[in-house]
Amino acid sequence: MQAKRIAGRKGHGDLAGRIRALKEERDAVILAHNYQVPEVQDLADLVGDSLELARAAATRDEAVIIFCGVDFMAETAAILSPEKTVLLPAGDACCPMAQMVTAGEVEVLRERYPGAAVVCYVNTTAEVKAASDICCTSANAVRVVRSLEEDRVIFVPDRNLALYTARFTEKEIIPWEGFCIVHDRITPEEVRKAKDRYPGAEVIVHPECRPGVIDLADQVSSTSGMVRHVCESPKETFVIGTEVGILYRMRKLCPGKRCVPLSPKAICANMKKTTPTMVIRALETMGPRITVPEETARGARAAIERMLSLQ
Ligand code: 13P
Ligand code: SF4
Repeated sequence: MQAKRIAGRKGHGDLAGRIRALKEERDAVILAHNYQVPEVQDLADLVGDSLELARAAATRDEAVIIFCGVDFMAETAAILSPEKTVLLPAGDACCPMAQMVTAGEVEVLRERYPGAAVVCYVNTTAEVKAASDICCTSANAVRVVRSLEEDRVIFVPDRNLALYTARFTEKEIIPWEGFCIVHDRITPEEVRKAKDRYPGAEVIVHPECRPGVIDLADQVSSTSGMVRHVCESPKETFVIGTEVGILYRMRKLCPGKRCVPLSPKAICANMKKTTPTMVIRALETMGPRITVPEETARGARAAIERMLSLQ
């Protein structure tokens, strides 16, 4: 058992060395989302939320971006940096919510609500982004909606994020009926039980959670916002209402804090697909590559860049 563990550790070290060499050879940067498995977070150059990763994709100098996350994140990187090679090591890692609205449906909404602005969550296809006026992430949805001149806003696809955003604006928000299959399952009952079990703990949830869960939370933020909050808060114990992968990041960056999952079943299978071996294979074979046709990318880029230009 002991020998096996040591061998495993050596194997991990060899992998890290191989990845370092390949990254240099390919002029590559590895970006990983906060929900990735620990071994992948550990080998990444940057771990962050969707907004931080999009900004990194737009500003890093490397010629190759290895995206450890899901399809829409790699697509966003490819849209922002068409001159770079963007690879998604787990080529089939997708976000089901991004498939819940189409560009055609956005056009129908525009006809139904003439004059309304269209905000799309970054968890969308490139085609939906191209059909929208501006993109947003969980970190800036409120800021994005407030930045608009229009009083009516169509918000796709996440109804929970739309309803959360509506709490902070006088504008009329028209939500689409999409949802995250992981966050939408978290229940107010789980929050009540966690509060009983950890009295005095702070409950932090993601805005993709249902309104009844948001109502009971002490704090609502993006995944990286959660990590920052845990590190900065004087509290010691935190109940975390999002995908459980974030706990590794929190324990690493905020070692003195106790972080427990609100729902241990909150696991995004797609975010768990990427492994260090897949990262190596991607660097060796330069695939699977994510590309977006320029006629779609042009419109999508305008929506994402409009978001990125907001401070
Ligand atoms: P963040 O942008 O907050 O990291 O969220 C991404 C996501 O997919 C949440 O489910
Ligand atoms: Fe999509 Fe939900 Fe997974 Fe995030 S956690 S990638 S929104 S399915």
